[in-house]
Amino acid sequence: MSEGGQSGAGPIFEGHILTLFPDFFTSPLSASILGRALARGEVRVQAHDIRAFASGKHRVTDDTPYGGGAGMVMKAGPIVRCLEAVEEGCLERGGARPHRIVLTPGGARFDQRAARRLASLPAISVVCGRYEGIDERVMAHVDEEISVGDFVLTGGEPAALAVLDAVIRLLPGVLGNAASAEDESFGQGLLEYPQFTRPAIFREVAVPEILLSGDHARVDRWRRGQALLRTSLRRPELLADLELTKDDRRLLEQARQEAIERSGTPAPAQEDP
Ligand SMILES: C[S@@+](CC[C@H](N)C(=O)[O-])C[C@H]1O[C@@H](n2cnc3c(N)ncnc32)[C@H](O)[C@@H]1O
Repeated sequence: MSEGGQSGAGPIFEGHILTLFPDFFTSPLSASILGRALARGEVRVQAHDIRAFASGKHRVTDDTPYGGGAGMVMKAGPIVRCLEAVEEGCLERGGARPHRIVLTPGGARFDQRAARRLASLPAISVVCGRYEGIDERVMAHVDEEISVGDFVLTGGEPAALAVLDAVIRLLPGVLGNAASAEDESFGQGLLEYPQFTRPAIFREVAVPEILLSGDHARVDRWRRGQALLRTSLRRPELLADLELTKDDRRLLEQARQEAIERSGTPAPAQEDP
């Protein structure tokens, strides 16, 4: 079981992970930005062992599927009892009732908007499935089902880590630089502009000159143009959700022209959204 450190003020966010493999989370939760937020006590993350809520001598958590077929299905009882125990614990400590989530490939696709929504909640419980998945009757006891993408993982644990990481880094004070989350991909509905660091020339490819100019206003405009160009080329559907200003259109066109000049080959023509 992993747990955040404690401070007098109490955590601003609680993430509860319901899993058959609580040890899975020990190392990732102790590293880097997440680990520091936990150590400071701003955030509490706890992995709860679903098996502890199974009955019988062997604490069985799965069984064969009704109707036949391959694999095993996670039983509803241990999961629902675990959700209830987590909730009871939170309420006893004077905390909020956690928003209940099941991770499943059949859920609504997780994205930055969902991360922001979950980061605005005081507490979430995240159920990780295994095997062929979870008895469908558990879904009546949760608030939402989430998928991290159109692929199938062996278990919900990596998906839970992805969701918690994306949520926790949005909490106030967790990232060193408050502006950085807003500036990143999806922060303003765009992919992020390309980033560069030293050396100024790497294998004959130079950093765009403007980044060495020290002119922050021009750098900001260049980055906006690059973000627009990258989004238009890689994720045109994201641009469709945005209202581009006249200036945005100008920056996008400029960025396209620059790309053509740099490569000597025309960037694929894109219709202005
Ligand atoms: C092998 S998967 C079960 C897949 C299930 N039989 C299906 O076809 O939808 C086992 C568990 O991994 C988790 N999982 C797998 N892929 C996922 C995804 N894309 N998003 C969220 N959770 C996922 C879920 O918790 C799921 O219950």
